[in-house]
Amino acid sequence: MLMRKQIAAANWKMNGNAQQAEALLRDVMQQKIKLSDDQVVIFAVPFPFLVTANQQLGKEHNYFIAAQNCSSHASGAYTGEVSAEMLKSIHIKYCIIGHSERREYFSETNAQLAEKINLLLKNEITPIFCCGEPLDIREANGQDKHVEAQVQESLFHLAADDLLKVVIAYEPIWAIGTGKTATTAQAQEMHAFIRSVIAKRYGKEIASEVSILYGGSVKANNAGEIFGAPDVDGGLVGGASLVAKDFIQIIQSLKN
Ligand code: 13P
Repeated sequence: MLMRKQIAAANWKMNGNAQQAEALLRDVMQQKIKLSDDQVVIFAVPFPFLVTANQQLGKEHNYFIAAQNCSSHASGAYTGEVSAEMLKSIHIKYCIIGHSERREYFSETNAQLAEKINLLLKNEITPIFCCGEPLDIREANGQDKHVEAQVQESLFHLAADDLLKVVIAYEPIWAIGTGKTATTAQAQEMHAFIRSVIAKRYGKEIASEVSILYGGSVKANNAGEIFGAPDVDGGLVGGASLVAKDFIQIIQSLKN
């Protein structure tokens, strides 16, 4: 049995409205896919839908709603921001942070993400920490250094027991929304590399317990192969998670 969780996480991004969100969640949940104790399904929905989506999900085993971001500040005069404490108070258990779209369009830095990680952990919310390189860095073969710095600067201040509460998502930017997935070999290579970076700092055993998801053009027809790679523990899925039948197939592609 695999120790680390296998996770299918939907990142809806800024799509749809309340009615469409409800219908999409209903269509996926109607399938009644039973998850094992080691499998988790997460829907990262826009802020306005968090409460109703959570109610809609009910207590279904290992299904969770996530936020797509939170503030790097605990509270105060930060108009328009949403705090980790607010998320906790509405019973949210997961939160994506450091998505490449937030790094690129909202100038989020590794140091800010370290603050977000701390606030989420303090509020007992599992961060889904995104990392990944842009195309020019991949073309210059600089992906290892780039991703290692992201992981070190945002996570390596944590004690081992806190690091174990973090999920990592490797999302090569050139594969996001482009229809161009990393090959399974490329994904496996980067996931093994990230695990080796964690092992250097925390030891092999801790590294083997961290779930590392792949993101970037995961589709119903490629999820099985990608998730089958030994160091890939599921996926963070954008476009295909907005189509119920596709996301259902992606859930069914998790290792068990
Ligand atoms: P796509 O699956 O649409 O490529 O998006 C990936 C992503 O950014 C998930 O967070």
